[in-house]
Amino acid sequence: MNLFYDDQHQVFKLDTPHTSYLMALADGKWLGHVYYGPRLEGTDVAWALALGTRPFTPEVLPNEQASFFDCYPQEYPAANAGDFREACLGVRTEAGQRDCLPAYVGHAFLPGKPALEGLPATSGGPEDCNTLQITLEDCRTGVRAELCYTAFTHLDIIARSARVINAGSGPLWLDRALSACLSLPYEGQRLLTLQGSWAREGQMQLAEIGHGEQGVFSTRGISSHQAQPFLALTSPDVTQERGEVWGMHLVYSGSFLARVQRDQHDGLRAVIGIHPQDFCWRLEPGEAFQVPEAVLVHSGEGLGRMTRTLHDLYRGHLIREPYRQRPVLINNWEATYFDFDEARLLKIARQAAALGVELFVLDDGWFGERHTDSGSLGDWEVNRRKLPHGLDGLAEEIKALGMQFGLWMEPEMVSPDSELYRRHPDWAIQTASRLPLRCRDQYVLDLGRPEVEEYVWAQISNILHSADITYLKWDMNRPLTDLGSAALPPDRQGEVAHRYLLALYRLQRRLVETFPHLLLENCCSGGGRFDPGMLAYSPQIWASDDTDAVERLSIQEGTAMLYPLSCIGAHVSDCPNHLVGRNTPFDTRAAVAMAGTFGYELDVTRIPEEERRQIPGQIARYRAQHALLQRGDYYRLASARDGGLDAWMVAEKDGSRALVTLVRVLCRPNRRRRLVRLHGLDPAGCYEDVATGRRYGGDALMQIGLPVDLPEADFQARQVELRRVEVK
Ligand code: GLA
Repeated sequence: MNLFYDDQHQVFKLDTPHTSYLMALADGKWLGHVYYGPRLEGTDVAWALALGTRPFTPEVLPNEQASFFDCYPQEYPAANAGDFREACLGVRTEAGQRDCLPAYVGHAFLPGKPALEGLPATSGGPEDCNTLQITLEDCRTGVRAELCYTAFTHLDIIARSARVINAGSGPLWLDRALSACLSLPYEGQRLLTLQGSWAREGQMQLAEIGHGEQGVFSTRGISSHQAQPFLALTSPDVTQERGEVWGMHLVYSGSFLARVQRDQHDGLRAVIGIHPQDFCWRLEPGEAFQVPEAVLVHSGEGLGRMTRTLHDLYRGHLIREPYRQRPVLINNWEATYFDFDEARLLKIARQAAALGVELFVLDDGWFGERHTDSGSLGDWEVNRRKLPHGLDGLAEEIKALGMQFGLWMEPEMVSPDSELYRRHPDWAIQTASRLPLRCRDQYVLDLGRPEVEEYVWAQISNILHSADITYLKWDMNRPLTDLGSAALPPDRQGEVAHRYLLALYRLQRRLVETFPHLLLENCCSGGGRFDPGMLAYSPQIWASDDTDAVERLSIQEGTAMLYPLSCIGAHVSDCPNHLVGRNTPFDTRAAVAMAGTFGYELDVTRIPEEERRQIPGQIARYRAQHALLQRGDYYRLASARDGGLDAWMVAEKDGSRALVTLVRVLCRPNRRRRLVRLHGLDPAGCYEDVATGRRYGGDALMQIGLPVDLPEADFQARQVELRRVEVK
């Protein structure tokens, strides 16, 4: 067991291979955070908590309580109970008051990791991890919180969650239920987050932490383009290889808060969880609320170690079928937008099949009267004028070409101009007094209503049964606004957004269980819901509507800091790029898309012949590297953000081979040739550059570096495949 309770000192200790997480009880009842960092051996550490302040002069008041809670590093602090920092728990009683101060009542050790009811989470058996469950209770109000800490035995991961139970006799209203709280002394740490916008997701931001609060959040009902549900505290000089990193990543797809506070005593408190705005959940006696999971990771070897730990966690313990072979696809969105019919699609498909593409994906516009962004969402009937032989007929034609057939749907939505909305206007999320905001000319369905969930399921399953569809792109193209449900009583209106997510997760689970061979790709106007929650159902997520190879560098750098390449949807598109008007070489676009689930999104019949001719070679290259890209260790070598060269590599875990990708953004005159130091190789091995036959020592590649040989021009890329060879 990697979990311990030291009865004498009242200390809990959780160990992972290189880290320890320690908590202790003050006065036998207040659960406090002692330490999270490099592994410690002993448990005699409770003294570290006894660092109170001396708030009053000239006397020290024996009955003073407030100054204790004002600075004690609680593990799961409650609101309105003397701890004035960011709280994890807020409970109102029937008296309308925030009234809750839970204290330790017991704990249990569980082998493996229990599932979270209704929510996606990492998983593991007794061979992978063990769980400590600590129960806190407020005997006056009956609020009970079961805090769950799972420590992995082969990964430096602590997964936290909680269940809040109403063990009292009257109803309670939970208006704050965050997932995790972490206390550290401030030692100059920086705050690392990913921020962005539509078409600019995943931008890394490293900021100094001043007194007060800072962080990222979403109140959009989706995890959002604007921020990733993640934060990390890093040592001030952190690099890819050096420095400490404490990361927190939320397994949730809705509104969230990830915030750090530097307090009056230079303590840091970092919290992550469901955003309290618009959240209030009524709990009847005996009912429980499951709080989403937060993944905690510590690295003593820089950002790169955090990245590889998260990749291993998500591939090994979250993503269904992470190593499933992904077909190289062609998607018609940027090729045709809404302007297509069967003949045009088949023309593209025929050409793509001849070039070796394996899956044809029909995007938006195939149903109802959907010829623009407005209309028909919810009416999932094929448009026979565009597709006279139906989806089935089209799928058969595509199959006859030797390709699989995939389809786009946006099941969570309804257009004001649709049969569905005309029949059920109250099925849209809305407040009582006004029509909801139109966003992309559509409304969001109130999925939390059982009849709406069932309708949506019927639509999806009918479509999937109607033709041979092996891939589904599940899209979601607007935030949730006007939160309100015609089906809930007034004191449950704060449940709309979370109920929506619970229904979404049920639908996706049902989908992958009913159609186990279906490849599901989630999407949300690009990366608006790229989070570990969605990843539990779909092994890949469309990372951004921006397909420009240069824009993609920073988007993919940020995304790959947390997520394995095998789940980052990336396509080669046409130039000039539709969003930024940039022209980049076809080969560079392919090299960049190979840091993800490689595919094409262009009209292959209309691109220049010299580009078309490159496609079979690109597909062959991707196929040859596919297993390595899916399974290997990812290293970020250089970032275009600091000087124009972007570089990353993926190395087989046993060091036998590696693929290095180098991309130069703008070419500058009179520059010295650059070397990029590699990682993850066998220092004693000899490596051959497969294309040139040039040989290098593994140690030299890692200590001196690989020469960056790129043509003197903007936007050039090169992939270097290295194989370890026997030296006679
Ligand atoms: C979103 C997606 C795109 C495309 C369109 C279709 O923007 O991110 O890839 O599917 O919707 O409307």
